[in-house]
Amino acid sequence: MSTNDSDTIAPETPAETVGTAAPAQNQNRKQPFPRGFLDTISTGWADRPEQTPPARTQAAYAAPRRDAVSAAFPGRRLVIPAGSFKQRSNDTDYPFRAHSAFSHLTGWASDAVPDSVLVFEPAGDSGHDVTLYLRERADRTTTEFYADATIGEFWIGPRPALAGVASDLGIHTSHLDAFEARDGDLVLDEDDELTRFVSELRLVKDDYEIAQLRLAVEVTARGFDDIVADLPRIIDTPRGERAVEGIFHHRARIEGNGEGYDTIAASGPHACYLHWTRNDGAVVPGDLILVDAGVEVDSLYTADITRTLPVSGTFTDVQRKVYETVREAADAAFAVAKPGVRFRAVHEAAMAVIARRTAEWGLLPVTADEALDADRGGQHRRYMVHGTSHHLGIDVHDCAQARREMYYDGLLEEGMVFTIEPGLYFQIDDLTVPEEYRGIGVRIEDDVLVTADGIENLSAGIPRTADEVEAWIARAAR
Ligand code: GLY
Ligand code: MN
Repeated sequence: MSTNDSDTIAPETPAETVGTAAPAQNQNRKQPFPRGFLDTISTGWADRPEQTPPARTQAAYAAPRRDAVSAAFPGRRLVIPAGSFKQRSNDTDYPFRAHSAFSHLTGWASDAVPDSVLVFEPAGDSGHDVTLYLRERADRTTTEFYADATIGEFWIGPRPALAGVASDLGIHTSHLDAFEARDGDLVLDEDDELTRFVSELRLVKDDYEIAQLRLAVEVTARGFDDIVADLPRIIDTPRGERAVEGIFHHRARIEGNGEGYDTIAASGPHACYLHWTRNDGAVVPGDLILVDAGVEVDSLYTADITRTLPVSGTFTDVQRKVYETVREAADAAFAVAKPGVRFRAVHEAAMAVIARRTAEWGLLPVTADEALDADRGGQHRRYMVHGTSHHLGIDVHDCAQARREMYYDGLLEEGMVFTIEPGLYFQIDDLTVPEEYRGIGVRIEDDVLVTADGIENLSAGIPRTADEVEAWIARAAR
């Protein structure tokens, strides 16, 4: 990827191809390579001995996942692409992020090479031969090496060698040029059955995944601590929401990580917009600020945590009432979650609290029982339109292609990881609520692991109750 703002790093085209290799509009700042450059660029480089590192930890976990896929699709050729760079604008791309199923089945995550393809080749009675096709580093005699701004080593850095990737991941590798698509291939994201299978394969996490999710939550907790510590400075920033986003990003990056999704930094009435990522508002004393953010670690597992903070350090009476009701809904969800219970029962437990409290406050045109009626009810959902929980893993909304009977109507199993994130949102212009409620949005989101007999709150270390949150802010101000 090149940038637009400096001719000095604009990609150049070899002299012999100028005028033919690229459309005319791409030629306006290109200079031909002089003969002397072409005669010397391919020589004078030291040998690069191939590294063959021992297999990474993930390799031992990815192998049985591939075995499960192989067993489910006997005799079929399966193609799992990593995906490619995605264009942001003109000749700039978003940072590459491999497809989650590809990463899950290879163990290749933040360092995966774009355009790689994992192929399961039917191999008679023995299942499949699995090959990972990747674009190996180019020989230094090629124009790709010095002239290709998208993939050339001079531009974006070296790629690993085939042997190195094979030993690192424990998968046979081959050059991408050797990959050919065939009629009858089942291709991920094109074939529903394959896409569903690999999504459902992630519903129950193994020990490696659970350890990675714990790590992601740990770093995320430090990001929230940073935001709380910086609240006084944030208030003084004209676009305080941007500062909140930046402080979280800084924590993710200084610990060497990324983020699993765009941070939601939603102050005051913005908190009522469920996925407010514009983050261009001020953070105003007296308001609440809702922060929904998650660090994604190298393996691509991500946390997904929300905390709602009183900007001035203490909740007003009405803010506290709303906050503690959301916590009560979350606690009700926590109380029912255990193996054998349906996923949707967790949501229903939270929604029963939301219905009961909003009815008590006189906000509903019906009773709580009527609001909870499956056919005629739902009046309370005006104030919480989203679900209480989603699976969490290598995607923030993990296992998204799983069947309903495995997901919303499925039974909880030990090793599942999901969020519990009820909320209450009273829009600034919602005439059905008294004025004092308007513009208050609260969500409390934790990440939980299903254990043998209940759940463990992986994010229990981040203050949750209204009292704990006030004490957290007070501590940080000292
Ligand atoms: N973290 C945003 C969401 O769960 O939708
Ligand atoms: Mn979430």
